[in-house]
Amino acid sequence: MGKILVTGGTGFIGSHTAVELINAGYEVLLVDDFSNSNPKILTQLETITGQNPDFTELDLCDEQKVTDFVAAHPDITGVIHFAAFKAVGESVNFPLKYYRNNFYSLINVITAFNSNVNLVFSSSCTVYGQPDQLPVTEDAAVKVAESPYGNTKQIAEEILRDTCAVSPDLKVISLRYFNPVGAHNSALIGELPIGVPQNLVPFITQSAIGKRGPITVFGNDYNTPDGSAVRDYIHVVDLGKAHVAAIQRLESAKAEGNYEVFNLGTGKGSSVLEIIQAFESSTGEKLDYKIGPRREGDVEQVWGDVTKSAEGLGWKAELDVNEMMLSAWNWEKYLKDNPF
Ligand code: WQD
Repeated sequence: MGKILVTGGTGFIGSHTAVELINAGYEVLLVDDFSNSNPKILTQLETITGQNPDFTELDLCDEQKVTDFVAAHPDITGVIHFAAFKAVGESVNFPLKYYRNNFYSLINVITAFNSNVNLVFSSSCTVYGQPDQLPVTEDAAVKVAESPYGNTKQIAEEILRDTCAVSPDLKVISLRYFNPVGAHNSALIGELPIGVPQNLVPFITQSAIGKRGPITVFGNDYNTPDGSAVRDYIHVVDLGKAHVAAIQRLESAKAEGNYEVFNLGTGKGSSVLEIIQAFESSTGEKLDYKIGPRREGDVEQVWGDVTKSAEGLGWKAELDVNEMMLSAWNWEKYLKDNPF
């Protein structure tokens, strides 16, 4: 099996993908700058996989360092590029920080491999904005981004598509995630939000454990069955497995052309209130929540059409929202007894 470079490898989705790559027989090389992750994740990965991951702390915005790193590892057969800043709200306040980091890192990786590598890119359903039709398919119109973060994902896809058009040896799959949540069933790795969680599920688990006050449901006056906004939540372990399937597609001759896009979701939407209910019923914990105003920039409802992923990647999400909530809760409880 090949050797896969995982940038952002100690991050939430990167670490879970590293586990699935190792389970699938790949060697992994993890790089990270710890700007949004914790070195302790490396020890956790060793406990989960029984292997001490090959890790290098690396600033991907430093072109020379990236070039030197890749030159020193000629046996890398593929790259999964997670490394990027991803906080929607922060990107509005610090756009240049986001454009610089998210583009410099991507361009430096492509350049270091001389546009000659199999590359899986971490994209997002954010590119769709509020789709005109649901479920949203990969050929749906990309809408004007609601945030600089979302814009970096859209432009990064264009950078990759345009580079692939003139670089036949650069083979890329962009994976558009819907809402990644949950944690590994060992409860040894999971989401590690910095400060007050902006995302729903980590706020729920921190509220349930007593770290935060009541949850605010951002709006219950949407045109949805219960009035709260709808998203396609996907278990991070299912997401990790999808990345292995994407690498395997790039290694096979199945890819159609050298730039493809796939949705990674469950194909099912859940409202905020349904997620709260799923958390309570799967954990037995009672949540304290109140209804508040809509959050600026939120879309009303979005969930993915996952037909193409099923056919092209031979992958389908297997874990449901109850397993997402229970695993997220087990991870929060682990953190309480083992603070990072
Ligand atoms: C989900 C729903 C909120 C917090 C973002 C990015 C996306 C991806 C996932 C990176 C929304 C509601 C939230 C709270 C609430 N990130 N909510 N109370 O905004 O769908 O997606 O994170 O790839 O790109 O855009 O996720 O978890 O913030 O919100 O009611 O305290 O929960 O309004 O409807 P979002 P989220």
